[in-house]
Amino acid sequence: MAEDLTILHTENKADQYRSLIPQIEALLYGETDLVANMANMVAALKEQFKWFWVGFYLVKDNELVLGPFQGPVACTRIGPGKGVCGASWQQKQTLIVPDVEAFPGHIACSSLSRSEIVVPLFSDGEVVAVLDVDSELLDQFDDTDKQNLEQLVKLLRF
Ligand code: SME
Repeated sequence: MAEDLTILHTENKADQYRSLIPQIEALLYGETDLVANMANMVAALKEQFKWFWVGFYLVKDNELVLGPFQGPVACTRIGPGKGVCGASWQQKQTLIVPDVEAFPGHIACSSLSRSEIVVPLFSDGEVVAVLDVDSELLDQFDDTDKQNLEQLVKLLRF
């Protein structure tokens, strides 16, 4: 029974992405401004999934600097390799953290955050920003989020 519920939950999330992605594509269509497009993307994601925090950090002068986000106020600057965001930047890959307390060096912008996914954005093979999503619940992110969020951030042009 528990397994069935898990499967239902996963299908439901995939369905949500399936309907959301074309809406975000339409929202961004014809607009080239990066900040405007990031702002609408995080607003659409927050609205759909009701996550605790959704936002971008942009690489500036070898630091991650807070960009458009939805949710409570957050840390403005993150150094290379620091926290989940800095680790994703350094490793050039998506990181899924089921329990932030078990991630060494996790930066707690809010003590309410329990699980997290960070997706890097690339330009010419270099990480230029990361998308960070936090949930108040443990173990909220999986490969469905990874695939879909990686697809979504490719809509942004640097
Ligand atoms: N938890 C992140 C910091 C950013 S906030 O969660 C918005 C990290 O460890 O990199």
